[in-house]
Amino acid sequence: MSALPPRFIAIVPAAGSGSRMRSERPKQYIELNERPLLWHALQTLTRVPRIDLVLVVLAPDDSWWERFDWSALGERLRPMFVGGDTRAASVANALAQLDAAENDWVLVHDAARACLTVAHVDTLIDGLHDDPVGGLLAVPVADTLKRADRAAAARVDATVSRDDLWQAQTPQMFRYGLLRRALGHEDKVTDEAGAVEALGFQPRLIAADITNFKVTYPQDLALAAQILLSRKRASE
Ligand code: C5P
Repeated sequence: MSALPPRFIAIVPAAGSGSRMRSERPKQYIELNERPLLWHALQTLTRVPRIDLVLVVLAPDDSWWERFDWSALGERLRPMFVGGDTRAASVANALAQLDAAENDWVLVHDAARACLTVAHVDTLIDGLHDDPVGGLLAVPVADTLKRADRAAAARVDATVSRDDLWQAQTPQMFRYGLLRRALGHEDKVTDEAGAVEALGFQPRLIAADITNFKVTYPQDLALAAQILLSRKRASE
């Protein structure tokens, strides 16, 4: 292990098309409170004093990034046009180009979780900075869960116990060395924790709250807009 204290590096994969949003524009650039959706999470991450670098992973043919002015977010923000076919590939490509120590912490955050706060990130870092594995923000499942019957459209096959179930969020925070190894093996996983689990580790769950939800469907935009506006008003 390096003698230097570990750095904290954020990676925001934003190379997806966001097809569930049914928009002409890639989801990360849809307007949310007069900014591209992606801007909000990047602003939060660049405001966390302990984070040294915020890398945003864009598709190699992304033509949207340069249409906006990102300068207000400061010098620690760096775009990388190395997105891959899957989210895992996008993150793995960024890690491969990053000059980091094995021991450095990497926080991977969905571009679409626009309502992330500095407090969410601080809770994650405080909860994990001396953890041997790393972990993720998550919320215990509150709703009763139903499994649909595949053969009968929109009919319940069974009620599934919600005991011990959590909804995974991001950021997900792992050491650079472990995450590179994990993503080198796996590209079918939908989050970094899944890749680390596949190596036999047990990431730690750090309790967050539902305001850190992922903007996925068109109706999610209005909710995100309200949350961001009410916080802005509260801080004025
Ligand atoms: O599609 P989904 O919302 O699950 O994507 C999660 C995140 O991964 C988004 O921020 C999306 O832009 C990113 N992504 C990526 N490269 C891909 C697919 C998704 O960076 N090939």
